[in-house]
Amino acid sequence: MLLSNVQKHFCSSQLIKSNLLLSLLFLFTTQVLAQKQTIIPIETQHHALALQVGADQRVGITYFGKKLKTPAEYQHVPTMYRRGDDYSGILNSAYTPAGSRNLVEPAIQVTHSDGNTSLDLQYVSHKVQKTDKNVSTTSLVLRDPQHPLEVTLFYKVYHDEDVIEQWSVIKNNQQGPVTLHKYASANLYLSADRYYLKHYHGDWAKEMQTQETQLTAGIKVLDSKLGTRANLYQPPTFMVSLDKPATEDEGRVLYGSVEWSGNFRVDLEVDPLNNLRIIGGINPFASAYTLAPGQEFTTALFLYTYSEKGKGEASRNLHRWARKYRILDGQGDRLTLLNNWEATYFDFNEPKLAELIKDTKKLGVDMFLLDDGWFANKYPRNNDKAGLGDWQENVQKLPHGIGYLVKEAKNNDVKFGIWVEPEMVNPKSELYEQHPEWVIRQPGREEHLYRNQLVLDLSNPQVQDFVFNVLDNIMTKNPGVAFFKWDCNAVIYNAHSTYLRNQSHLYVDYVKGLYKVLDRFRAQYPKLPMMLCSGGGGRVDYAALKYFTEFWLSDNTDPLERIFMQWEYSYFFPAISHDNHVTDWGKQPIKFRTDVAMMGKLGFDIVVSKLEPKELQFCQQAVKNYNSIKEVVWHGNLFRLANPHENDFASLMYVNEAQNRSVMFNYMVGNRYGAGTGSPIKLKGLNPDKKYKVKELNLYPETRTPIKEDAIYSGDYLMTVGFNPQLSTRRTSVILELTQQK
Ligand code: GLA
Repeated sequence: MLLSNVQKHFCSSQLIKSNLLLSLLFLFTTQVLAQKQTIIPIETQHHALALQVGADQRVGITYFGKKLKTPAEYQHVPTMYRRGDDYSGILNSAYTPAGSRNLVEPAIQVTHSDGNTSLDLQYVSHKVQKTDKNVSTTSLVLRDPQHPLEVTLFYKVYHDEDVIEQWSVIKNNQQGPVTLHKYASANLYLSADRYYLKHYHGDWAKEMQTQETQLTAGIKVLDSKLGTRANLYQPPTFMVSLDKPATEDEGRVLYGSVEWSGNFRVDLEVDPLNNLRIIGGINPFASAYTLAPGQEFTTALFLYTYSEKGKGEASRNLHRWARKYRILDGQGDRLTLLNNWEATYFDFNEPKLAELIKDTKKLGVDMFLLDDGWFANKYPRNNDKAGLGDWQENVQKLPHGIGYLVKEAKNNDVKFGIWVEPEMVNPKSELYEQHPEWVIRQPGREEHLYRNQLVLDLSNPQVQDFVFNVLDNIMTKNPGVAFFKWDCNAVIYNAHSTYLRNQSHLYVDYVKGLYKVLDRFRAQYPKLPMMLCSGGGGRVDYAALKYFTEFWLSDNTDPLERIFMQWEYSYFFPAISHDNHVTDWGKQPIKFRTDVAMMGKLGFDIVVSKLEPKELQFCQQAVKNYNSIKEVVWHGNLFRLANPHENDFASLMYVNEAQNRSVMFNYMVGNRYGAGTGSPIKLKGLNPDKKYKVKELNLYPETRTPIKEDAIYSGDYLMTVGFNPQLSTRRTSVILELTQQK
């Protein structure tokens, strides 16, 4: 498929009027392209992006789609499209510069040291560096012939996973400072008849609400301006289907995401030639960035995968990539846990926690996680209005410190984890009194709080030290601490730093400061598991997940809502990274709540001592069941079977690589008369030639399964006819384990 009519470079528009001449032109063009133009194919296992260096040294994207067998043939693609004129000749630019001949949304916009605002980028060189058999990076150097500014475009290919990461490095080679007004990570160019964007929006407790819409001419922008995190209103993840909305198993679809834990922006522009330009990166909003002579700016990364076999394959590719290359310990284990947040809120003391630690053991999970409220003395953290920033144990609640709890955990043979929110501060705190200059706020303006707190200025190296020390001190004093829940509840209002000379650097330097702290933390504690959390699961992005083993999807743990949220998150993030807690949100029985939480990493946030005997018995057995299937959930391949947006139930399954074990999760989401699975659900991902037994897990005590557990089915049968989990309004959640029978 082609992208833009680059033949425009080689002829006048009158020629195009005659069919005969047009054919000649195509021939001529092809030859010229063959002779003069360099094609730079960037290929994964199944797809390709072809860059072409024009005779004028400008680099365009001439192809995006399924890989061709013969790379040389990418050069013919441009000649096949007749959609009109590209007056600029750079509509398909690999990195669209502003201020010269460009007429559309740029990827880069600068003011040079002499005040000139034009930019032209021309090919200098390119090279490919191989990291290993699977990973290689193509870099392409572009330079402005008039103003010494160099841009290097990077394309990192993960061959087997069909994933590409793109970013650029912008270097100021001028005598004076250069200001960057826009500095995208990537600039893509796709061609189809129609484009369908599936994107997300939300708010606290309403994460991952989704919409799918046909893109019309013009620009659709996905962005955030929250400062401390990517998402609250919009996450940096989206997908675009070409020609028609992709289904799970069919259709051409691109998944994209900006890897940046702060303000991001994605422009999706259907251009005058009906091609789709996608420009993604850090949001340049209020963030003009000045580069001193000789200085470089490395943009955020932009991640994408492309599939011609629908959303399911795209997810599985991304999951495989994430587990192998991105999420901290993505191929390792996780700790099941009991959290005390909803069980106690701020109201606890040592004896109460000691009881909860015993309950952790009783439940059978791996770890007790102490949440908010354990610190601060002058302004004790007894609610969310005070104490944040004062990271000393509260002597009333914890007279013997964290050490006592770590020991109690050890005595009970469970691990101990702890909550921190080190980037933020309550005005009612000693930290605020001692270091008002560390707080982000506009001088002279009334402070505006988010959850009664303000954000610390992470662009300041002293603040970076402070944040690092919050965690490091805990670890140094209590080496037995096994887990951190790193929270981030506030957003940035009144963006102003006392430390920075250049205020428009704050949003970018905040995130860079955060990464510096996390790099330092990881250098010292490379494997310590850590949850990425935000009041509202809005912080997740693939740059942050390099440092975290998992993330908090939402404060909303109502299992009905979670089915939809977990479903949507599952397009982009693998189950091993989903922290799902069983809580008292929602009206559903404990079985339903537990069954829903089990499709990711299982945790509990309930008062164990208040469970009825049968409920406790159920939970204890569920934890055992989870331990037996978690391997498949965490490391297996996900197949979505029935979409809760389209049915009155949801169904999905995980299959391990060997295809000898699988777990199928089924949940009712509607309760109208007759709702349920009236017919079998077709399974996926099994081996048609293998034989499987189906067993129901998590049966509530004293209930029986209607499933015939001694029957044996071939993978062929299960994938052709399907299997009925027998969901109904009286059987609202069903977990089935499939095991190969030899
Ligand atoms: C946020 C988190 C919750 C909890 C509270 C504590 O809201 O999302 O899980 O940790 O903070 O204040």
